Amino acid sequence: MAILNIVKDGDEILRKRSREISAVDEKILTLLEDMKETMHKAGGVGLAAVQVGKLKRVIVIDIGTEELELINPKMLKMSGSQESLEGCLSCPDRWGITRRPLRVEVETLTREGKTVRKKAEGFLAKAICHEMDHLEGKLFYDEALRMLTPEEMKEYE
Ligand code: NI
Repeated sequence: MAILNIVKDGDEILRKRSREISAVDEKILTLLEDMKETMHKAGGVGLAAVQVGKLKRVIVIDIGTEELELINPKMLKMSGSQESLEGCLSCPDRWGITRRPLRVEVETLTREGKTVRKKAEGFLAKAICHEMDHLEGKLFYDEALRMLTPEEMKEYE
């Protein structure tokens, strides 16, 4: 396993659309493990492959209570709404209030190449939406309701 470099906002790769992968091979499995290690080391709850410089539709999420791998994910359903604080490993020191769906249902490939459905709500639903936006070249602040001021950020430290 390896710790990968996290691409920071300003690098144009973050604005590109990631591509579907054709098969879950050894390279993808290694990428998943490296991404998890990188995310944990950085103290994040989610990471998309583009954030380590790979334009592939691969995501890892670990919200502490639940861990998830998404490969070629598709959004099937979204409902409800939640407003909460959001940040991104690629956007250090930037936090904003976003509005996200409260519940989502996604379709994803598993490591074994099986197509499965996954329902999520609350914080996990937010994380899934955030990471899936990365696959389209979007960043959380693009549609944030508002960004925190430096004074407000001090309160969260
Ligand atoms: Ni992010």
